[in-house]
Amino acid sequence: MPLLPNIPRLLDELAHLATISAHPAPAVTRVLFSEEDLTARAWLLTLAENAGLRTRSDSIGNLFITLPGSDPSLPAVATGSHTDAIPNAGAYDGVVGVLGGLEALRSIAESGETPRRSIELIMFTAEEPTRFGIGCLGSRMMAGTITADEARQLRDPNGISLEQLRPPQYSGDLAATRLTPGSYSHFIELHIEQGPHLEAAGIDIGLVEKIAAPAAFRLTFTGTGGHAGAVLMPGRHDAFLAAAETALAVETAALESGSPDTVGTTGVIEVKPGAINSIPCHALMEIDFRDTDLAARDAALIRIRQSAETICERRGVQLDWFLINSDPPALCSQEILAVAETHTTDLSYTSTRLISRAYHDSLFMARLCPTAMIFIPCLNGWSHRPDEFSSPQAIAKGTTLLAHTLLTLAAS
Ligand code: GLV
Ligand code: MN
Ligand code: MN
Ligand code: MN
Repeated sequence: MPLLPNIPRLLDELAHLATISAHPAPAVTRVLFSEEDLTARAWLLTLAENAGLRTRSDSIGNLFITLPGSDPSLPAVATGSHTDAIPNAGAYDGVVGVLGGLEALRSIAESGETPRRSIELIMFTAEEPTRFGIGCLGSRMMAGTITADEARQLRDPNGISLEQLRPPQYSGDLAATRLTPGSYSHFIELHIEQGPHLEAAGIDIGLVEKIAAPAAFRLTFTGTGGHAGAVLMPGRHDAFLAAAETALAVETAALESGSPDTVGTTGVIEVKPGAINSIPCHALMEIDFRDTDLAARDAALIRIRQSAETICERRGVQLDWFLINSDPPALCSQEILAVAETHTTDLSYTSTRLISRAYHDSLFMARLCPTAMIFIPCLNGWSHRPDEFSSPQAIAKGTTLLAHTLLTLAAS
């Protein structure tokens, strides 16, 4: 039976969610447990309840929206993504998978068809690492990749702990967030590509076969401060210069890893005391490093660490190295991809297989059940910037394909 998602309704909701932002339009900023994040969560639950769907949350704030199946004793089929947004992001990253997922559930409910398995939409807590430096916090906890004790140690840049920030509605036992493998039968996430390939090739749908392995680490450099006029150059132990040289070593390690997919980014640098006439005594850097090839990534990480140690020794600067996360890649389910591919053909959409270089909650859901992703094109491949854009047609196709794939998986 054809499923007919209501695309004008979905586009209105996407436009509304973009207004719930800490920065003015077109920028979208919704950081975990900020006022905007909490407002967006409450609004999403209201939409779901208005559609007659069941809602619940877990103790890390993952939201679950359920369309009950005719045999609710079976593990459900799940979909979902995130609504948090890094500072000055756009309106589509994550959000298309959540609101598109909601529209997919509503279109199935409105078709009058009752799926055999329940279908559950998950809005994952903090896919973005903005608040605690670690991405995919909600799905990571569901998969048990981070324990409740480790989560309790998390601090934001102001030193405020997860426990202090966790709102009362999510006050339960953090350990209960963890699920056992098989809790869901399948998971499929709809997301914008965040890369240029689909648009450049004029292809409607990307079917993701693999998600690259991300790692992140924080380096702190402690040198010796002093007066910028009075301390002569040979006597300096400048923490920022040690950090700057290490950032270049990160670039070199990525360029020379031997794998074309290695990418390394020093996206955070803080310098103290931060005065023009004071030699930096302290620097903090956060580095994101990824590859589809785990061995190449890990060899490059060792090389970066050795370079940083050599640089700091030569400059008389103390180095502290903290690994935030180091995750393996995920392989997507060929079973789910085949179902989605068949529907793509039935719907007369064009599709191709590709790799996700960004990480997603699917990276962790893949530890719990067969998982795959549907990508739709986005303008120039832009993402994590205010001019991020996916066309109404692309969103309509992704959502329609998601709905059909969910319904077929729910019959299995
Ligand atoms: C998620 O936003 C990522 O950085 O891949
Ligand atoms: Mn993102
Ligand atoms: Mn995302
Ligand atoms: Mn992401």
